[in-house]
Amino acid sequence: MGLFDRKPIATADESGTGMRRTLGAGDLIMLAIGAVIGAGIFSSLGTAAAGETLADGTVIRYGAGPALVLSFVLLGAVCGLAALCYAELAAMIPQAGSAYAYSYATLGEIVAWIVGWALILEYAVGNVAVAIGWSGYFTSLLSGFGVNLPGWLTHGYWNVKASGDPAIRALMDSAPHIGNIPVLVNLPAFGIVVAITMLLLKGVKESTRANNIMVVIKLLVLALFVIVGGMHIDPANYKPFAPNGFRGIHQGAAIVFFAYIGFDAISTAAEETKNPQRNLPIGILGGLAICTLIYVIVGFVATGLVPYEQLRSSDPLAKALSIAGLSTASWIVAAGAVVSMSAVLLVFQYGQPRIFYAMARDGLLPKFAAKLHPKTRTPHVTTIITGVAVALGSLLADDAATYDLTNIGTLAAFSVVCIGVLVLRIREPERHRPFRVPFVWLVTLGGAAACVFVMRGLPSSAWKAFAVWMVIGLSVYFLYGYKNSVLRRGNAPVSPE
Ligand code: ALA
Repeated sequence: MGLFDRKPIATADESGTGMRRTLGAGDLIMLAIGAVIGAGIFSSLGTAAAGETLADGTVIRYGAGPALVLSFVLLGAVCGLAALCYAELAAMIPQAGSAYAYSYATLGEIVAWIVGWALILEYAVGNVAVAIGWSGYFTSLLSGFGVNLPGWLTHGYWNVKASGDPAIRALMDSAPHIGNIPVLVNLPAFGIVVAITMLLLKGVKESTRANNIMVVIKLLVLALFVIVGGMHIDPANYKPFAPNGFRGIHQGAAIVFFAYIGFDAISTAAEETKNPQRNLPIGILGGLAICTLIYVIVGFVATGLVPYEQLRSSDPLAKALSIAGLSTASWIVAAGAVVSMSAVLLVFQYGQPRIFYAMARDGLLPKFAAKLHPKTRTPHVTTIITGVAVALGSLLADDAATYDLTNIGTLAAFSVVCIGVLVLRIREPERHRPFRVPFVWLVTLGGAAACVFVMRGLPSSAWKAFAVWMVIGLSVYFLYGYKNSVLRRGNAPVSPE
């Protein structure tokens, strides 16, 4: 048995899920908006527009400025290609584990492991970033009530260390110290992750109804931002339009890519979609197109409302409104952002344990990770592990660095998925495909190349962190998964969870 052995593909019937096809294109669009709109647009937009410079003047990334709208258009196209590829595999490979499972079936075990390991960045590290964004808005919401938490309780150590803002850097000295170490923790971020984890342990699930309510709230607050903010645009703020040229648009896109993460999650609804050949591409591409349009409009208003440099903050939309003197609107947007990001936290905090579960079921992670709680039937062990890790990360991390790491991992997984589609077309051309990517060579190779192109806009610190993460991952694989793989031991499980 080799490193590139593939796990047999279970058909929808074998997988035994027997799910009913009830979702239409409109439902898929709602699902996409529910999973996608969150910290990316509410938070990372600020760094994408304003760029990032360390206290010593080192430029980490150039901002797009008002040309951020072009970054969003570029990303809409890149994600569209990847989304088509996800749709083909999701419709054909109805197994838990998303891109991890697709890679196992198409490119073999070691690639699947690498993708699964990269997905930890998308889900768990991504949620650290969302929790920090959540905390930014929660803190500004509280200050609207006159409650001002001290800075050392709302900024993690790494966030302060990476900040170019002298007021935030000053926390290094003003925070209480234990010995030489300043106590700098993001307590609200920690708290929300603990709360979400406890909900999940009770067996709370995303439901279509709850999702629809969230979507309405998200759309309403963004509409409020656009309408109220739109009335206070100062055209002078659009000049210069692209202060850092294409480099700024590219590097801005690389961080705000975070706003698009999650549309891949809807491909997992393939089995429950009516007429997937028609509805999946409409749902996925329609959802992406709507989100792209919303992002372009929000980006246009945000960069018109205040000079783009002032958007560098973990709550840029609320901050922009409040700088413009619109404090009631700022408060409402902050409240809406808190709700929207809680929903994103729930989706990803729900997804990560299930990916661990799929990997453990295949023998690539220890068996305890594949345990289900006897009563709630949820993977409680991995839910707790994920909760503890994400909560601790949220306590100390820097938001921009976590966006970067999430994006690089997700883009890597996306590009593998694109290649996987092509490989499987060549290897198994006869296999039944409920949905087929059109112009397969162009879309798959173009999609993979486009993802790598966006990755190249990330700072070198992200590449280094990604390399370290992958070295750790491969060590774990060779020390554990390689020996314990169920597939290598000759009895591949094809049954679902
Ligand atoms: N796209 C999701 C967000 O922006 C992850 O929060």
